[in-house]
Amino acid sequence: MINIAIDGPAGAGKSTIAKEVAHRLSFIYVDTGAMYRALALACIRDGVSAEDKEGVVKSCENASVTIEYVNGEQCVQLNGENVNPYIRSEEVSKMSSSISAYGEIRSMLLNLQRNLARNNNVIMDGRDIGTAVLPDADVKIYLTARTEIRAKRRFEQLRNKDSELSIDAIEKEIIERDNRDMNRKIAPLKIAENAVLVDTSNLSIEEAISTITEIIHDRVR
Ligand code: DC
Repeated sequence: MINIAIDGPAGAGKSTIAKEVAHRLSFIYVDTGAMYRALALACIRDGVSAEDKEGVVKSCENASVTIEYVNGEQCVQLNGENVNPYIRSEEVSKMSSSISAYGEIRSMLLNLQRNLARNNNVIMDGRDIGTAVLPDADVKIYLTARTEIRAKRRFEQLRNKDSELSIDAIEKEIIERDNRDMNRKIAPLKIAENAVLVDTSNLSIEEAISTITEIIHDRVR
């Protein structure tokens, strides 16, 4: 099986780009952030705070996260319910970043992620795919963009959803989340050895997609 790992900070365009590249290569797209988000939703629904590690672990242990593909689209299920519509809020973003710092939570998702890669050609995106989940991936890409650009893109995305958030508030949230994801003790976000760095600050989505497709074609024959 061919495994492509894409890591990078929040809002770098990983999911939009990785999803399309996977589609063009007929690979499965695995969004590991969505798995952490599903567990975060379980904690929120249980009324557990991120600081309450014992409560978080208990809540997540009682939650079953599974993945299904419907028309090529990844659906994350929490206890059998498709929770895709509920996992993109700012509250879930923050909670997922916080609980993902706990090693117990990371271990709960590791088998699910590795099994998907063992059984399928995958493009898997996240924070620790090239460094921890799939250290032997065929291609590793670190996708990033300048913070203000990432905030602007997120702002444009949310504006269509009637969000009240200002661009400054979004940038602040992105910086906080990056700091947490890059500075945690277990599997922090960092550039994997042998990863190709792609900065999308000055690239359109189509340019980013073709850049990444070329990198993959060059390395996997
Ligand atoms: O990719 P995303 O923004 O949907 O991820 C949400 C959070 O989940 C992110 O802030 C950190 C955590 N995460 C992680 O720790 N490891 C991954 N492989 C993917 C996401």
